[in-house]
Amino acid sequence: MLAMDYRGPYRVRATQKPEPVIEHPNDAIVQVTRSCICGSDLHLYHGLVPDTRIGTTFGHEFVGKVIDIGPSVQNLKVGDNVLVPFNVFCGTCYFCQRELYGNCHNTNPQATAVGGIYGYSHTAGGYDGGQAEYVRVPMADVGPTKIPDDISLDDAVLLTDAFPTGYQAAEMGEIEQGDTVVIFGAGPVGIFAAKSAWLLGADRVIVVDHVEYRLEFVRNFAQCEVVNFKDVDDMAVHIKKMTDGLGADVCIDCVGCEAAGNMLQQLTGVKLKLQAGSATVLHWAINSVRKGGVVSIVGVYGPTFNAVPIGNALNKGLTLRMNQASVKRHLPRLIEHIQAGRLDPKAIITHRIPLEEVSDAYHIFSSKLDNCIKTVLIPPGAH
Ligand SMILES: NC(=O)c1ccc[n+]([C@@H]2O[C@H](COP(=O)([O-])OP(=O)(O)OC[C@H]3O[C@@H](n4cnc5c(N)ncnc54)[C@H](O)[C@@H]3O)[C@@H](O)[C@H]2O)c1
Ligand SMILES: [Zn+2]
Ligand SMILES: [Zn+2]
Repeated sequence: MLAMDYRGPYRVRATQKPEPVIEHPNDAIVQVTRSCICGSDLHLYHGLVPDTRIGTTFGHEFVGKVIDIGPSVQNLKVGDNVLVPFNVFCGTCYFCQRELYGNCHNTNPQATAVGGIYGYSHTAGGYDGGQAEYVRVPMADVGPTKIPDDISLDDAVLLTDAFPTGYQAAEMGEIEQGDTVVIFGAGPVGIFAAKSAWLLGADRVIVVDHVEYRLEFVRNFAQCEVVNFKDVDDMAVHIKKMTDGLGADVCIDCVGCEAAGNMLQQLTGVKLKLQAGSATVLHWAINSVRKGGVVSIVGVYGPTFNAVPIGNALNKGLTLRMNQASVKRHLPRLIEHIQAGRLDPKAIITHRIPLEEVSDAYHIFSSKLDNCIKTVLIPPGAH
C-alpha cells in the first residue's frame, strides 16, 4: 500500500509499505478515505518529539471504511464508514472509566507520559498512523464511531481531533456567561476553540497569532476580535488594555512548543532543546489572564523541563487546566452542533492533496504557504 514515510526531520515521502493485518482479535483494518495533517504532526516533522523512528507513518486524524475485523469485534462490521478518534484507548481502565480517554493507561507502554496516539512516535505507543491507504485500528470496539449518514466525510475527519480539541480547550477554560476569552493560535485548533468559546457563553473572544491570513480567516469564521502579536510590545499590557485593566477571564494556549514571538524561548526551546519547547504562550497566557482566572492549555509540550512562570500563576491564584483531548467524549455533542447547522467544520479545509504528494503537503502546511489552514490527504483508492 501507499503510505507516508518519515525519513528524518523535514523529510517525509510517500512510499510502498506492507498492508497492515489483524494482530489481535479486537483489531479492525480500515481503508482510509481521508486523513489530515495536524499541527501536532509538525512537531514530529520538525524532529521535536523523542523516539520518532525512521520509517514510521504519521497521521492521527482519519476516516475510512472497515475492510476486515478480528474475531472478537462486536460493534463494527465490514463496510462501515467510521471516524477514528486520535486517541488509542481501552475503554475500561481507571482513566477511561472517567472518560479521560486521552490518558488511557493500557495502550502505551509509556502510559505515565501520554496515552496511545496513532502515528505519534514510540513515546505515544508506536502505532502506525492513517496517512496511508490502510491502517490497523486496535481496540476496534471502543474507538471508532460510525459516521452518521448526514455527516460528510470532510466534517467527520475534523471530528477525529481538531474540532473536539478546540472544544475541549474552551471547555477546560470553564467559561462563564459574560467572560472575555483570549485564544493564542489561529490554527485549526484555535479556530475551533474560538467557535466553541461562543457556544459556551463567552461575551468576547479575542484570537492572537502573527499569520495575517489566519487572523483574517478566524475573524470571519468565528466573528471574533484579532490581535497580530507582531504589532504588540508587551502582550500582558496589551490584553489588560483591552479588558478594563484586569486581564482576560480565560486564556487558552492553542500553540504549544513551537511558539514564536520570543527569540530566547525559540533558541532554548526549539533550537538548542534546553527546555521542552518554547514557553512563550505559557508566559503570555499566565500574565494576561486576570487574578483568579483560568488558563487552558491544549498546545503540546514535551514532558520534561519548561521555563514557565509558575510563581506568577501561584500569586494570581490561577486555575491551570490542560490535557490531550478525549475525543470520543465530545462526539455526541459536536455531531449535534453540525447537524443543527451551528458549525461547519469543513469550511477550514483549504487544501486537498493526493497522498502521493505528501512531501509537498507537509511543506505547504509547515511553512504556511498558499494561505493553508487545513490539509486533507486523499489516498489513491479514494480519489
Ligand atoms: N492537546 C491535544 O489533544 C491536541 C490535539 C491537537 C493539536 N494539539 C496541539 O495544538 C497546537 C495547535 O494545533 P494546530 O493544528 O492548530 O497547529 P498550527 O501549527 O496549524 O497552528 C498554530 C498557530 O500558532 C501560531 N503561533 C505561533 N506562535 C504564536 C504565539 N506566540 N502566539 C499566538 N500564536 C502563535 C502559528 O502562527 C499558527 O498559526 C499544536 O501544539 C498541536 O500539537 C493538541
Ligand atoms: Zn492532532
Ligand atoms: Zn483505558
